[in-house]
Amino acid sequence: MKKKIKVGLVGASGRMGQEIVKVLKKTPSVELHLAICRQSSLAEFAYTCAEPSCAEAKDVDLWIDFSSPELLQKLLAVAVKHKAPVVSGTTGLGTKHLAALKKSAKSIPVLWASNMSLGVAVLTEAMRVFARIRQFDFQIEEFHHRRKIDSPSGTAKTLQQELEAIVGRNIPAPLSIRGGGIFGIHKIHAMSEDEIVVFEHTALNRTVFASGAVEAAKWLFVKKKGMYCMRDVLYSETK
Ligand SMILES: NC(=O)c1ccc[n+]([C@@H]2O[C@H](COP(=O)([O-])OP(=O)(O)OC[C@H]3O[C@@H](n4cnc5c(N)ncnc54)[C@H](OP(=O)(O)O)[C@@H]3O)[C@@H](O)[C@H]2O)c1
Repeated sequence: MKKKIKVGLVGASGRMGQEIVKVLKKTPSVELHLAICRQSSLAEFAYTCAEPSCAEAKDVDLWIDFSSPELLQKLLAVAVKHKAPVVSGTTGLGTKHLAALKKSAKSIPVLWASNMSLGVAVLTEAMRVFARIRQFDFQIEEFHHRRKIDSPSGTAKTLQQELEAIVGRNIPAPLSIRGGGIFGIHKIHAMSEDEIVVFEHTALNRTVFASGAVEAAKWLFVKKKGMYCMRDVLYSETK
């Protein structure tokens, strides 16, 4: 029988962490080994620890992280020490966190994405057509639930970066709207005097991010060291 992948989940008690637990439980190829969580222990996992640097971390085959930039940074040091791949969807990263991700990718496989849905990966690809109407005015708009910490969202920042590269100039900063229980809506408006084009992605639940993260994890597990993104997963799936 094929050995199951022992997963370490960082931020296991959070909104995304709990959603990932549901998806992992339905994934036969994985074993819920270690939950990193400051609160009570999580029954689904063999072990729960408050810090990724605990003794049980040495047996983790692969990490999934949806927590905070500070905790991600601590995790990377542990993952590099034990040579375990990391999939992270944590947003709000600063320059030092991004540098830590890149440095870690020199020794282990790392996949970071501000949005784990395949739909947003497709949207990002679709934006390339805006090169043909680069003279239009562009504006990104995003809506999220009222408890979201970072603003603009990590996804909006990534879309902004991609769009600026496509149209070859700076565009106005994304507009952020917070309220209710919205899982995530991202719109890209392209506007001229005569017409408007709107590209839009709506996440209908949190499972879409969790399923994407687990798919990405299974994909990453057999990869060599390096920095990967959801585009890599998207294209390998459609081949
Ligand atoms: N890439 C994507 O597709 C995607 C989708 C949705 C969300 N996200 C991002 O994922 C992250 C988590 O989102 P969420 O909605 O799940 O947030 P959340 O409900 O606040 O959960 C965060 C989790 O991380 C833990 N945590 C944070 N800092 C910690 C620390 N220093 N030490 C120990 N535990 C720590 C929290 O533990 P405590 O409860 O003990 O504080 C909690 O379990 C955010 O950055 C969010 O923007 C990404």
